[in-house]
Amino acid sequence: MYVRPHLVVFLWCAMLTEGLTEGRRLRTRRGVCENGTYQHEGRSCCFCQTGHRFLSHCTDKHDTKCEWCGHGTYIDHPNNDDKCQPCQICDSNANMDTMLNCSSSSNTVCRCKDNYYCDKGDLCKACYPCDTCEKHGVKEKCTETTNTVCHDAKEPVHLQVVIVAVLVSFILVAGVGVVVFWLCRKRKYRFKGRPIEPAVHLTDLDLDPYLLDIVEVLDWKTVKRVARRSGMRNTEIEEHELNNKNDVKEQKYTLLQAWSQRQGLRGAYPALIKTLHEMKQRKTADEIQTIVEKGQTE
Ligand SMILES: *[C@@H]1O[C@H](CO)[C@@H](O)[C@H](O)[C@H]1NC(C)=O
Ligand SMILES: *[C@@H]1O[C@H](CO)[C@@H](O)[C@H](O)[C@H]1NC(C)=O
Repeated sequence: MYVRPHLVVFLWCAMLTEGLTEGRRLRTRRGVCENGTYQHEGRSCCFCQTGHRFLSHCTDKHDTKCEWCGHGTYIDHPNNDDKCQPCQICDSNANMDTMLNCSSSSNTVCRCKDNYYCDKGDLCKACYPCDTCEKHGVKEKCTETTNTVCHDAKEPVHLQVVIVAVLVSFILVAGVGVVVFWLCRKRKYRFKGRPIEPAVHLTDLDLDPYLLDIVEVLDWKTVKRVARRSGMRNTEIEEHELNNKNDVKEQKYTLLQAWSQRQGLRGAYPALIKTLHEMKQRKTADEIQTIVEKGQTE
């Protein structure tokens, strides 16, 4: 049989063209595989797209066969899996709510109900009630993923506040007390004059008119001691005692008068006050100053 060379060329060309077409077809098919490919028996097959499951591999005649995931199941990535995953159910008995409903391409998203938490991330199967911190109060609020943080029992905020308040009041009261005490002392000295050194203008007063009143606040022993301190002899002092045997007031008066004479007109009053202070009879000295100052203003 004679075969025309044209026909041979034609057949070759046809075969070549068919081959090229097949190649182009494959390439095109691959180009359609938007979700990528997998290898099966030397062929590149398309993955099933998200939300679909695998039924059968691709052949020369057809692409990978896939099927939509039924209700209540999903696949969330391109795949060649023959089973869809069951959607998670947010169990309200486990204190969970549905945040996002399941779709064929995504699982349910659960969350904890209000005032419940789960700190196990993806492993959360149940949520636990948040601590109410009834004893010591909330330090940090509960979140979906962290429990409430309570105040430490050792340093409860209320006790701290109480301690600070007590300390502040104590310091305030003490401060006011010190100021009042200081003011009182100042006032006392201002009214009664400096004890050791009586005011200068009082030094030139004559003590005589006050002697009768002064001996009222002095006892015999004190008058004697004042007299002795200024160097009066015992015999002289006893003389006043003997001369007025049954009259203590007269004993005191005459002795004090004699003592006063020895001090001189200007010296008697300050000397008496000074001596009483030296004898630690501050109160008596103040009483005498009051008598004299009263007499001065009258
Ligand atoms: C998978 O392919 C579909 C179209 O077939 C496209 O809509 C989708 O975005 C692709 N998914 C991914 C993850 O590339
Ligand atoms: C989930 O779907 C149900 C109906 O099936 C609907 O009542 C509910 O509001 C949906 N929840 C969310 C969070 O979309």
